[in-house]
Amino acid sequence: MKVLVTGAAGFIGSHTAERLKEMGHEVVGVDNFSPYYNVSLKKLNANELHVKGIELLNIDLYIDELIEKLPLDVDYIFHFAAHPGISKSSTFEEYLVNNIVGTHKLLQFTERNIKTPFFINIATSSIYGLEATYPETEVPKPASYYGVTKLAAEQLVLSKVREKKLQACSLRLYSVYGPRERPDKLYTKLIDCGINNKSFPLFRGSEKHLRSFSYVQDIVDGIVSIIGKENICNGEIINLGSETESTTAEGIATVEDILETKIDMEIKPVREGDQSRTKANINKARKLLNYNPQTTLRKGLEAHVAWYKANF
Ligand SMILES: NC(=O)c1ccc[n+]([C@@H]2O[C@H](COP(=O)([O-])OP(=O)(O)OC[C@H]3O[C@@H](n4cnc5c(N)ncnc54)[C@H](O)[C@@H]3O)[C@@H](O)[C@H]2O)c1
Repeated sequence: MKVLVTGAAGFIGSHTAERLKEMGHEVVGVDNFSPYYNVSLKKLNANELHVKGIELLNIDLYIDELIEKLPLDVDYIFHFAAHPGISKSSTFEEYLVNNIVGTHKLLQFTERNIKTPFFINIATSSIYGLEATYPETEVPKPASYYGVTKLAAEQLVLSKVREKKLQACSLRLYSVYGPRERPDKLYTKLIDCGINNKSFPLFRGSEKHLRSFSYVQDIVDGIVSIIGKENICNGEIINLGSETESTTAEGIATVEDILETKIDMEIKPVREGDQSRTKANINKARKLLNYNPQTTLRKGLEAHVAWYKANF
């Protein structure tokens, strides 16, 4: 099968592209190497994909004429490209153009030019809002530009299914971590601080937040398991994440234990829009996809630390 992966130079997209290639698919990646975080990290991921024979096209879904640049003979589209995270330094326009307009343009291109593809939209637990502990039937209450724009993108995709113009599903991911995690996220930043003797900027009260910390390879297991299950997944929203809840304080203590060091905390003001609790309800994923994530936080963080030490 031929597979298009958008956001393939990023954290989860690069792992998914690699896995799809290992499964024997022909993989074409797309990324605009957005400067949201250090572009050299995306180039590092891109080099690793290149070595594994994965083509990566430098394309901006919002700006470029997609018809001139994207392949037309793909069977699956995995859509990761987005302006991610909750960041004060990101503008509403950045979320708008990359998450909503970029998705709209990709959908238009797909609908007009690709014969019977299956479109897998990558969404987020931020769609649920400040608490994300619910099944997929819960009314969304996003509390950030990120959550609002990802909800709109998800609905754009699903509206094409309702109109019978496309077959598609949307996967809502929960707090993904592991090798290649974005540097703005908890664990890569924490490991960097621990190894390089820097203070970690801890948002006030966030140590008590409960999270479904989900190891990236477990998440990729769920994402690629859609292949072959298009009929039962068409039109569906499916949560993917770990069922185990940990506090951020427990995560910090685990990293300190692995690194055998105490990390200095610098308390920062509360981060607006931050979720207080995420716990992935994966009953539907278990039923439809036989999804069964197994990696413990300790094991996943050991792999994350090993990746950091090998690369930086
Ligand atoms: N990391 C998590 O914990 C998490 C949790 C839930 C959902 N998600 C979703 O997973 C997806 C991937 O997230 P990630 O953490 O790997 O982020 P990432 O920033 O590492 O990856 C996203 C990639 O998309 C690219 N991109 C952004 N705008 C683009 C555009 N207009 N055209 C082409 N490429 C563009 C970026 O350059 C980047 O490489 C996102 O859709 C995000 O919303 C992530």
